[in-house]
Order: sequence, then structure tokens, then C-alpha cells
Amino acid sequence: MPSSLVRRLTAPDAPSLRRLRLDALVETPESFGSSYEEEHTLTPEDIRGWITPLDDGAMFGVFADELLAGMVGVGRQHKLKMRHKAHIWSMYVAPAQRGRGMGRLLMHAAIAHARTMRGIRQVQLSVTANNTAASALYASLGFVEYGREREALCVNGELYDETLMALALPDR
Ligand SMILES: CC(C)(COP(=O)(O)OP(=O)(O)OC[C@H]1O[C@@H](n2cnc3c(N)ncnc32)[C@H](O)[C@@H]1OP(=O)(O)O)[C@@H](O)C(=O)NCCC(=O)NCCS
Repeated sequence: MPSSLVRRLTAPDAPSLRRLRLDALVETPESFGSSYEEEHTLTPEDIRGWITPLDDGAMFGVFADELLAGMVGVGRQHKLKMRHKAHIWSMYVAPAQRGRGMGRLLMHAAIAHARTMRGIRQVQLSVTANNTAASALYASLGFVEYGREREALCVNGELYDETLMALALPDR
């Protein structure tokens, strides 16, 4: 699959990003810390704020037939004492496109971007402990588990643990 299918999202992508993000929150609510209830009122204008080019973060999209089929965000932690860490968020590939390498392409783009961010020493993420597909993807990219949060999410009355994972970036 050509990597040109993956690119950084920019302001004109806001409406399709909003649609995919809401689809994701409805389809796999246990995969995300946020919820449809909290985000369905966000406007494309609000979403533009996520993707306006920033030094400290970016969102990437993967496209199939020119339609947004997957997304991922990477951002630097804001606190002064944590600015050496980046986190991955909003990782999602639409069900019809899964198993074709798109998730891996998105993660490669996010990690490559983190490597360009000055002083980043590690990339962190959290994944619902029973999410074998995402956990296998992250492990295959070199992420290692550094902890587990018990009962991290409560979705429709069901409690889910989260695995905390990190990828160390070499000194630069
Ligand atoms: C996790 C997710 C992003 C993977 O996207 P994808 O495009 O299907 O992934 P890829 O085709 O690039 O596969 C990459 C790797 O993921 C793992 N993987 C993907 N699907 C898998 C499955 N059903 N079972 C086990 N491992 C799987 C494999 O390690 C695979 O590598 P391989 O093909 O060399 O074996 C996708 O399943 C998804 O959006 N799930 C719902 C939302 C979600 O879980 N987001 C992550 C939140 S932390």
C-alpha cells in the first residue's frame, strides 16, 4: 500500500474528521476516553482547532478512494516537566478498511512525526486491555507495557482495564 495514502490532516479535512471521529465513538466506545455524548456537539470549527498546524502535535489521516478511512493524533504533553513525552490518541480505522495495513501506516506517520518534535524521549499511549488487534500492532512497533490501570473506563456500566504502553525514542 503506498504511503501517499497517509497525510497530515489540515483545516479542509475538518468535516470528514468530525464524521469519522463520531463514527469511531459510536462503533467502539470502549476504545476511547471520550464519548459521542461529549463530542457530537463539536462543530467543524472546533475540530479545525485539533488540526491547525502546531509545532507540538498533528493528526494524520489514511484515505481509501479519496475518502478518510482512518485517523491518528500525536501530541506533546504540555506541562513543563513532561514536555519530553508525546502521546498517541484517536487511533481508528473504519471497519471496512481494517486488516489492510492502514493502521500500521498511521502509526508509522505518528511516530515519524514524534521523532521530528524536539526533545521527545518517548511516545506513550493507552489501550483497552482486551483490544488484541491494537495491542498487537503497538507491540509490533516496539511499544512495551509499563503499567495497567484497573477499571480505567466505565462504558455503559461495564468496566475496562487499560494497558499503558511506551516507545522509547533514541537520544537525538
Ligand atoms: C486497531 C486498528 C486501528 C488496527 O487497524 P488496521 O488497519 O486493521 O491494522 P493493520 O491492518 O495495519 O494491522 C496492523 C497490525 O495490527 C495487528 N492486528 C490487526 N488486526 C488484528 C486482529 N484482528 N487480530 C490481531 N492482530 C491484529 C497485527 O499485528 C497487524 O500486523 P500484521 O498484519 O503484520 O499481522 C483497528 O482495528 C481499529 O480501528 N480498531 C477499533 C478502534 C481501536 O481499537 N483503536 C485503538 C485504540 S488504542
